[in-house]
Amino acid sequence: MNIVLGISGGIAAYKTPDLVRRLKERGAEVQIVMTASAEEFVTETALQAVSGRPVRSNLWDKEAEASMSHIELARWADAVLIAPATAEIMARLAGGSAPDLLTTMCLATEAPIAVAPAMNHIMWSNPAVQANRRTLEDRGVMIIGPDSGSQACGETGAGRMTEPNEIAAMVTALAQPSGGRLEGRTVVITAGPTREPIDPVRYITNRSSGKMGYAMASAAAAEGARVILISGPVTLREPRGVEVHRVETAAEMYETTHGLVRDADLFIAAAAVADYRPTTPAEQKIKKTTDSTSIDLVRSEDILASVAGLDDAPFTVGFAAETNKLREYALSKLEKKRLNMIIANRVGSDCGFDYDENAVEVFWPGGEQAFPTAAKTELARQLVSLIADRYDSLRDDGRSSVIPLEDRKKKRTQ
Ligand SMILES: Cc1cc2nc3c(=O)[nH]c(=O)nc-3n(C[C@H](O)[C@H](O)[C@H](O)COP(=O)(O)O)c2cc1C
Repeated sequence: MNIVLGISGGIAAYKTPDLVRRLKERGAEVQIVMTASAEEFVTETALQAVSGRPVRSNLWDKEAEASMSHIELARWADAVLIAPATAEIMARLAGGSAPDLLTTMCLATEAPIAVAPAMNHIMWSNPAVQANRRTLEDRGVMIIGPDSGSQACGETGAGRMTEPNEIAAMVTALAQPSGGRLEGRTVVITAGPTREPIDPVRYITNRSSGKMGYAMASAAAAEGARVILISGPVTLREPRGVEVHRVETAAEMYETTHGLVRDADLFIAAAAVADYRPTTPAEQKIKKTTDSTSIDLVRSEDILASVAGLDDAPFTVGFAAETNKLREYALSKLEKKRLNMIIANRVGSDCGFDYDENAVEVFWPGGEQAFPTAAKTELARQLVSLIADRYDSLRDDGRSSVIPLEDRKKKRTQ
């Protein structure tokens, strides 16, 4: 897999040696092409050392052009990634101008192009930048990010370059679009919290950020699956290439899941669904007339158990977020709900919800595996690979309880 990594002159260029390593870990050959401004932020020496190839930057470098011309470079690429992409390079790409090696090569390539913008949040929201983004998107350029958070300029907002590992996952999938482990499979995933209304202005919810479920959706899509994500209220960007259905309450999540899961090969329940909801939400705002009060709660439907209990259940994976007795509770859930797999993670004040990293233990009938702390995006990639292993081995096993979707559909029409 050959990837041309174009680096333009943004402060996030300091992250590119790490990005090169992440791309190489995924089996990519990386050829770097830098703009003149990028050289102000990261050295050619560092990039040459990590990529193992001489860095290209000058369109008029006769020696480099003789060994691999910009046209040959354009043909060599299975994908072109520009990270970080400045406002300036996006404008050049959108305008179709080619004053330097990187933009000339982009015009000359038939390979898919991805850009990971990174800039000050006010620059990013500038109408000119947004118009260029739309132009590029309309032409099929993959726009990765940017993410929100604290920025090098000291401000906070949308403009941070997406983390190298996530970019590497998306671009390697772009470079090798077919042959994923879940090619041809449909995966339904739930993510995020639910909100259970108390009255028109208040609700009960939990600390789930949805990050793990969204990372699972991206990872399954990168493995070639058709992914349907049923999401509770979160502030995350929708994963590319994933069909997203938004819901608020546990009851809505239950209805939406059962409306979609019949056509799924796999079901991954990563949402933190409220176990209880107010029995009768008040129609008007509850006034503070007494010193104490109580809310009558009723159990919500168990979405995970109800899917696993279907006659023609898909391969079903649950998540168990526990503060204690992780193993005991996870194993009991696996057995009681008759799941194919359970992914257990400890949650507390310093781990689990809303963190970008996670560590989990996975259990299935007759096996288990621990995954040490890793970025949720990386962990999701490893978990999806394990899920694909288990799914394949159950399907290959004649005694398997996992019925292929095609056969389940046939059975229903009989
Ligand atoms: C210290 C510094 C940091 C910069 N960071 C960014 C940035 O993060 N994003 C961006 O779009 N432009 C940034 N710029 C502006 C670009 O470097 C400038 O627009 C340049 O012309 C980009 O050229 P290039 O796209 O060919 O690399 C920065 C400039 C300076 C001086």
